[in-house]
Amino acid sequence: MATNTRRVKSVEDSIRDTDEPEHRLKKNLSGLDLTVFGVGVIIGTGIFVLTGLVARDQAGPAVAISFVIAGVVCGLAALCYAEFASTVPVAGSAYTFSYATFGEFVAWIIGWDLVLELALGAATVSVGWSGYLNQLLDDIGLALPTSIAGEEAVFNIPAILIALAMTGVLILGIKLSSRVTAVIVAIKLAVVALVIIVGLFYLNADNYSPFVPPAEPPAEGEGGLHTPLIQLLGFAQSNFGWSGVLAGAAIVFFAFIGFDIVATAAEETRNPRRDLPRGIIGSLVICTGLYVAVSLVVVGMQNYTELSATAPLAGAFSSVGLTFFSSVISLGALAGLTSVVMILMLGQSRVLFAMSRDHLLPPTLAKVHPRYGTPYRITLATGVVVAILAGVVPLSALAELVNIGTLFAFLLVSIGVWRLRRTRPDLERSFRVPLVPALPIVSALACLWLMLNLPADTWLRFLVWMALGIAVYFGYGRRHSRMATGERRPAGEEKDVSRA
Ligand code: ALA
Repeated sequence: MATNTRRVKSVEDSIRDTDEPEHRLKKNLSGLDLTVFGVGVIIGTGIFVLTGLVARDQAGPAVAISFVIAGVVCGLAALCYAEFASTVPVAGSAYTFSYATFGEFVAWIIGWDLVLELALGAATVSVGWSGYLNQLLDDIGLALPTSIAGEEAVFNIPAILIALAMTGVLILGIKLSSRVTAVIVAIKLAVVALVIIVGLFYLNADNYSPFVPPAEPPAEGEGGLHTPLIQLLGFAQSNFGWSGVLAGAAIVFFAFIGFDIVATAAEETRNPRRDLPRGIIGSLVICTGLYVAVSLVVVGMQNYTELSATAPLAGAFSSVGLTFFSSVISLGALAGLTSVVMILMLGQSRVLFAMSRDHLLPPTLAKVHPRYGTPYRITLATGVVVAILAGVVPLSALAELVNIGTLFAFLLVSIGVWRLRRTRPDLERSFRVPLVPALPIVSALACLWLMLNLPADTWLRFLVWMALGIAVYFGYGRRHSRMATGERRPAGEEKDVSRA
């Protein structure tokens, strides 16, 4: 029935919608562009900031193992994304995939959930950008007051400016965005390579022992709602040890966020069925290798107990007397975070674009610019919201919300691949996940496991956000959806869609 919240949008309809003249995006991107995009958004705050924080407080030198665990979980999910993206090459990523498999309600839930990954992620990284900028300005004696710049600002002017500047670039066109990204990615990779190669000469074997520091009970005042949920559910509370390595994996997971955004650019790719799997898996493999190498170098250069919580890479170089390199690293981090902000906003605007094209959000937002071929209205709206969030909301407590939101999307995409194999075995899949259903099930469970390793207060915030989303759906989207108004017929309506 048309009012059924489980109405499924057929894959064919999703692909057909991409060809409506007022909704057509320019197809400009190649496989290499996508890989560069992937690396452009993946390498950011995670490696430049979280490495130090997690090594110091949770995992010790075994932060490298945390990176491997998070990388494996992402790798499983990446295979699932690659199959979906090669089957349904339509903007919107997990949102569009869910519409084709679980139906409208779950699709909405996922679209709403992706705001946590993309808009909140972009705002969080904008604040990190402001922190690095102020540090560099400080190096040359021009630091801005901490009330208007840096991580603790009350009105964060650089964070607002970077969000708005990247919005401008996105509106001007996806090809320009990908050129800007290519330059930034080159700088970022050069800096990461520099850290690895130069750092190798300054390793101290003593810093690697113990590699997994023994578990410690939480310090006085620690714990409470900021304890990983899994520990509140009965597992012993501790920092370090193997539970620290796992909790660390749930945090450094942030460093991998982004490979899935490659799938949001599906409609702008020349040969999506071939290039999307390459872009998704290629960028993830490159970044995982670099992360493990960088984290091993950093904990080898400086004892984990002494690592800086805000700029660990630069700090480790300063600690061995290489202050010049430390400024170069800060500059590289600043450039690197710029492309992360841009591509997270790109992903957000494409997901919202797909949602308004389906009329789950006001359709006027989905208009494409006649000259630039980009969804300018939704991009502008996204940019303004990200700028406000980054400018005035204290975000440090919210960063883990980005992880839980992303993991939830990965979980549903993993199950969705298996489900679509059963409901639509006929579809052409140029990339197929091996070992279905075992691999998607392991992938979903692994995502759930990392989610459980996130703090209980993050879970509470997540549930509040999702409850709000459900209210918005029943207040607006359910009635306005193209499938409710009869403009689109749910897949298999003539059969019985509730069992589709
Ligand atoms: N993966 C991105 C980062 O680490 C979001 O900044």
